[in-house]
Amino acid sequence: MSDIPDINWSNLPFGYVKTDFNVRCTFKDGKWGEIEVHDDEFLNIHMAASCLHYGQEAFEGQKAFRGVDGKIRIFRIEENWKRIAASAEGIMMEPIPQDLFIEMVKKVVLLNERFIPPYGSGSSLYIRPLEIGISPLVGVRPATDYQFIIFVTPVGPYFPEGFRPTKVVIYREYDRAAPCGTGRWKVGGNYAAGMRATARAKQHGFSAVLFLDPKEKKYLDECGPANFFAIKGNKYITPKSNSILPSVTNKSLQQLALDMGLEVECRPIELAELESIDEAAECGTAAVASPISEIYDFDNDHSYVIAHDGNPGPVTTELYHRLQAIQRGEAEDIHNWCTIL
Ligand code: PLP
Ligand code: COI
Repeated sequence: MSDIPDINWSNLPFGYVKTDFNVRCTFKDGKWGEIEVHDDEFLNIHMAASCLHYGQEAFEGQKAFRGVDGKIRIFRIEENWKRIAASAEGIMMEPIPQDLFIEMVKKVVLLNERFIPPYGSGSSLYIRPLEIGISPLVGVRPATDYQFIIFVTPVGPYFPEGFRPTKVVIYREYDRAAPCGTGRWKVGGNYAAGMRATARAKQHGFSAVLFLDPKEKKYLDECGPANFFAIKGNKYITPKSNSILPSVTNKSLQQLALDMGLEVECRPIELAELESIDEAAECGTAAVASPISEIYDFDNDHSYVIAHDGNPGPVTTELYHRLQAIQRGEAEDIHNWCTIL
């Protein structure tokens, strides 16, 4: 095993690269066991496991960065714990305790330290925790046994365009989540539900689908893999909806927007309001803040063009740089978002 893997760090796609180790922990007989370290990429699970048939699966996405000072920073680890615990409870799984989650995240990052992209490469170490129901079941009910796993992989930008603006599309014939369904939890089924619409969008040159609220199709919800925000005058506006995932990145950008003197409005946003916005972007751990140049309403054959001559808007650019500066140790972490290893 060499100390430095042969990877082109500045040109990484958002994909899977095998790293050295993953960590696992099993909930059985009413308690969590010991943390196990594996170098095997495969799981050995029963073919009747509830995750395989009835979608008892929840996951997270978070990142570790190599800072300008050489230190490793993990971004907002407690927020990802809170969300995976909520997701687990949402689909009747045993939530992982906070201390165990944090210990496992730190451990898997340190075990794979040589895969953390160097400072300045623009890449980061993506951390993917997941929990699955492993009890063999045929009747539909929650499992009694669970496995919690974390693997990591070095990644570049989610959208190949990076920070270049992309177009997104609205289709009314698809929903990602139901009005009182699982949209607010990060569970695998939501992503399966969005795949058909997203594949169609990509086929037509859009980076993502911007889903509308599934009840009235009147308000903006979110994009397939990211939340949506817009800049309107001196305001950062972002949809409030029961069917969207509460994004850690969005929450952080809202704070940064306040720090910049903007007002923040988290409220239902009608589609028609897109006529009066100045900037728009998709935001998430993978997407960071990916600017949107145009929103195409397919059913009405109408484009909302967000003009900056094809360039990212100034506020989105400033937010993007502020967020990355904190994650990479270039700016003071005044909100205590990073865990330094
Ligand atoms: N919305 C969806 C559907 C997502 O998959 C993600 C990615 O995690 C987000 C929003 C952004 O959330 P976060 O910023 O916590 O990564
Ligand atoms: C993330 O941003 O971490 C995500 O999970 C989005 C996508 C890769 C599913």
